[in-house]
Amino acid sequence: MYWSSQLNQNYFINKPANQLMLSWINDQEPQRVIDCGCGYGRNILHFEGKSRRLVAFDPCETSVNYIKSISAQVEVSLNRIQDQPRRDDTFDLCIVDGVIHQLLSAIEFDAALKYLHTISSSHGTIFISTFTSDQLSQDLEQLEHKVYRSCSTPAMRLLTSEEILQHISLSFKVLRYKLEKFTLSVGERSNLSCLLRRL
Ligand SMILES: C[S@@+](CC[C@H](N)C(=O)[O-])C[C@H]1O[C@@H](n2cnc3c(N)ncnc32)[C@H](O)[C@@H]1O
Repeated sequence: MYWSSQLNQNYFINKPANQLMLSWINDQEPQRVIDCGCGYGRNILHFEGKSRRLVAFDPCETSVNYIKSISAQVEVSLNRIQDQPRRDDTFDLCIVDGVIHQLLSAIEFDAALKYLHTISSSHGTIFISTFTSDQLSQDLEQLEHKVYRSCSTPAMRLLTSEEILQHISLSFKVLRYKLEKFTLSVGERSNLSCLLRRL
């Protein structure tokens, strides 16, 4: 599996937490944090020892086992965001970094947003960062409507930033957002980051 192989390549290990997210939450000290699609934990591990409760999940067993091996605080499990059962507990900060574009249908996208709505506390914030289709570079091969793949990476469903923000605005207040373009070794990407609060 692609994400398991990244552990061997050390690509996602010991990376700093997402700096835009940290600058946006600024002086907030979230006590209950959940990282949905945590990968090797760069975001959730930033809050280790600072927040009271840390929860994380990812469908990649290698990532989950890695976090278990290095952290006694993070409650980590094997799960996908779109299949999560309803929870009774809520979080001050929900992180979804580099995950939403991996949901390959509108149904999965909606299920993920619904889940985020149920787990975010009324005063809490949700940070989402996702690739968009505002810029489609040559390396992207279209597999079906809105679905693309590059080289050996997993398929991605890419929407425009406008489509994403419109959809999100139905159930969340958009506190901040930023559309960025950057260059990967395989090509150009556009990425939307946003900070939300549930309506
Ligand atoms: C680009 S990595 C980002 C990892 C981490 N969020 C970070 O920013 O370092 C994407 C992660 O999303 C996970 N993922 C893929 N599909 C997912 C899904 N349906 N639900 C939750 N996580 C998923 C992958 O296993 C991988 O760890």
